[in-house]
Amino acid sequence: MQKRLVRKLDLENAISEIPLHPAPKAHLEQYTITPQVAAEMLYIATYVNDDIIDKTVVDLGCGTGRLVIGAALLGAKQTIGVDLDKVAIGLAQKNAENMGVEEKMFWITADLDAIHGTFDTIMQNPPFGVRTRRADRRFIEKSLELGDRIYSIHKGSKHNRGLIKRLRSGGTRCIPTQPSPFLERFIGKHGGRIRGVYAMMMEIPYMFDFHSKKKHRFVVDLYVIDGRHTSKS
Ligand SMILES: C[S@@+](CC[C@H](N)C(=O)[O-])C[C@H]1O[C@@H](n2cnc3c(N)ncnc32)[C@H](O)[C@@H]1O
Repeated sequence: MQKRLVRKLDLENAISEIPLHPAPKAHLEQYTITPQVAAEMLYIATYVNDDIIDKTVVDLGCGTGRLVIGAALLGAKQTIGVDLDKVAIGLAQKNAENMGVEEKMFWITADLDAIHGTFDTIMQNPPFGVRTRRADRRFIEKSLELGDRIYSIHKGSKHNRGLIKRLRSGGTRCIPTQPSPFLERFIGKHGGRIRGVYAMMMEIPYMFDFHSKKKHRFVVDLYVIDGRHTSKS
């Protein structure tokens, strides 16, 4: 039986063994989350908010499975990875087998709109809506419908220079910050309530013809949100 991971570094190392998508599609914004951001996100969910151990966890747009496999390694009761790309789902399934957690994992190849029900926790690193307009908003709406608690990654503010400098210096990896006024309104309008926002540094390698650098480093914000059902109670 798989031993439950406890140390953040062990989790990060395990996640770094899950490869990037080998043939990413630009219109689906198939950027893979870094092991550092995934581990921070899963750690906050597990040990700050108690949202992973013995919980049902859904990863919307799971890609090759870094977040949802991480949740399984930390002790989720049952996990579901959803992605409309069947190549990504096939790889995620293989990765779960390699990590020895396939028994508690379900995989669904479908658009997120096909998912119904209620779940304890939603993890997502959605497309930012750069290539397909409003793609990120669909993920927020759906996650608020499905989850009691949502962990969602979004593009961070370019304007908070002090925060960017602190993150770039590498001294700290995760800094509490303010929500964007737009997302705060959007989430509130769809019945959610923001519990916290954390800024982190993300890095993506050169992937597509329209990329101009070998690596792109930028700030992302992790939103921790009470879903529609939780924020009413
Ligand atoms: C930014 S990638 C994140 C992948 C993975 N969660 C990670 O963090 O490494 C977004 C993922 O969402 C998937 N996706 C995009 N639109 C989708 C939709 N409408 N329904 C389901 N999955 C979708 C893409 O195929 C892609 O794998």
